[in-house]
Amino acid sequence: MKRSMMKELIKYISSYFDKKGAHDMTHTKRVLKVALQIAKSEKNVDEQIIIASCLLHDVARKKEDEDKCECHAEEGARIAPRILRRIKFPENKIQSVVYAIKVHRKSKDIKPKTIEAKILQDADRVDLLGAIGITKTIIRHSKNNDAVIHSPYAKKLNSHKDYKTESIFNVIKIRLKIPLNTFNTLRGKKIALERFHFLKSFIKQFEKEWA
Ligand SMILES: [Fe+2]
Ligand SMILES: [Fe+2]
Repeated sequence: MKRSMMKELIKYISSYFDKKGAHDMTHTKRVLKVALQIAKSEKNVDEQIIIASCLLHDVARKKEDEDKCECHAEEGARIAPRILRRIKFPENKIQSVVYAIKVHRKSKDIKPKTIEAKILQDADRVDLLGAIGITKTIIRHSKNNDAVIHSPYAKKLNSHKDYKTESIFNVIKIRLKIPLNTFNTLRGKKIALERFHFLKSFIKQFEKEWA
């Protein structure tokens, strides 16, 4: 993709994102960076499709957060062609971008079939891990006023209001249960593994300090 087209796309979609918080546009830019790294290790990847898919994958995230649509992947796939046609993106590649956006959400348990969709899903998921993943979780859950950690007292009672919410630490800890073999690409697995290591040492240190 030409630099000018990419710049135009970034400029065009910036209004679709929150200016700050866990779902601001920096996530999208990080996903693109990681996806391009993964793409280097894969064969027959269309870079234009990767760039457009990454930049547009969460274009409807804000809408979902505001309860204006049910699934941001579906909604993003629906609005992407209009945006792509506006920047004169090659018509014959639009459907591949739409497909990658539609299946990017691993929580929907869809196995992507194209290499570009596989790469996007991996790049999106590694952003949940490592230092960035921890930071995003803290930002998101602080907004809901969730407890940092469930106290043993709350755990014992199980009915304590503190225990009814997710604890921030628990959400971070659960990330360790993501199976490495659910990443689609070898490079994606490698990046995830490095971030799992950091997550593990963070959890260990946190528990030591909290005890
Ligand atoms: Fe997403
Ligand atoms: Fe995302």
